[in-house]
Amino acid sequence: MEQPRRVEHQLTDKGYVPVYTTNVVDQPWNDYSAVEHTTWATLFERQMALLPGRACDEFFDGLARLQMNAQAIPRFADLNPILKAATGWELIAVEGLLPELAFFEHLANRRFPVTWWIRTPEQIDYISEPDLFHDLFGHVPLLLLPVFADYMQAYGEGGLKAARYGNEPLTELTRLYWYTVEFGLMNTPQGLRIYGSGIVSSKGESLYSLESAAPNRIGFDLKRVMRTRYRIDTYQKTYFVIDSFDQLFRATVDPDFGPIYYELKGASAFPAGDVQDQDRVFQRGSGEGWPADGDV
Ligand SMILES: [Fe+2]
Repeated sequence: MEQPRRVEHQLTDKGYVPVYTTNVVDQPWNDYSAVEHTTWATLFERQMALLPGRACDEFFDGLARLQMNAQAIPRFADLNPILKAATGWELIAVEGLLPELAFFEHLANRRFPVTWWIRTPEQIDYISEPDLFHDLFGHVPLLLLPVFADYMQAYGEGGLKAARYGNEPLTELTRLYWYTVEFGLMNTPQGLRIYGSGIVSSKGESLYSLESAAPNRIGFDLKRVMRTRYRIDTYQKTYFVIDSFDQLFRATVDPDFGPIYYELKGASAFPAGDVQDQDRVFQRGSGEGWPADGDV
């Protein structure tokens, strides 16, 4: 398989991250090897055994409607008509992590960039950057849900706006994405459920986020989340819990972010593992196994 074209390391609030060309490419589906299809199957089956009773119903609904299965890496061209009809979103194949502005621009236009390459068998349990399994299995099922589809578009528009306000607003908005789209939990009548893509695509974190005594689980609050540092190298110290996707959408679309950025200007950020007095605490984490530094 051809190698993705990594172009530079860009300094972001997550430290130096690899950033790839902004080209939109054709998913080279015919070039996937048998090993790559097997990697998909292994990851898919493993998560499907783990996620019932842990991931939210909306995630399973989306997965079923997209007819994703363990047989083969899905073709984006097969998924797009289903997505388009449901919420107007489409998948585009990219080389990997995009520079922030390019990413926001795509979201604002209902295009979801999916990395076309999949991890190697040696990276089955952990890969430090998003690959096809994370992007496709983790993110795409919820794009069939109108309220979540709207949230993602609004986030892209918010990102373009934040970029005009400067670095601090951009950092705050990135935290919102991290603690919702990537690592969010939801409170349901059946108990806490996962909706964050970083969790549903990770075997270890699917268990840890819900069942470990170590992390905090705290009710979602927009400004609280925007002030909270996070981890890119370990499981999260804190997960934020929404009551519903409607709550998430209302909290992030109705307010004018300009005054919020102004209010938070110069405010110190909370360490990833802190619990604040005003927090709605589902679980106060034991902190077991937490590294002392490294929040970003
Ligand atoms: Fe992601």
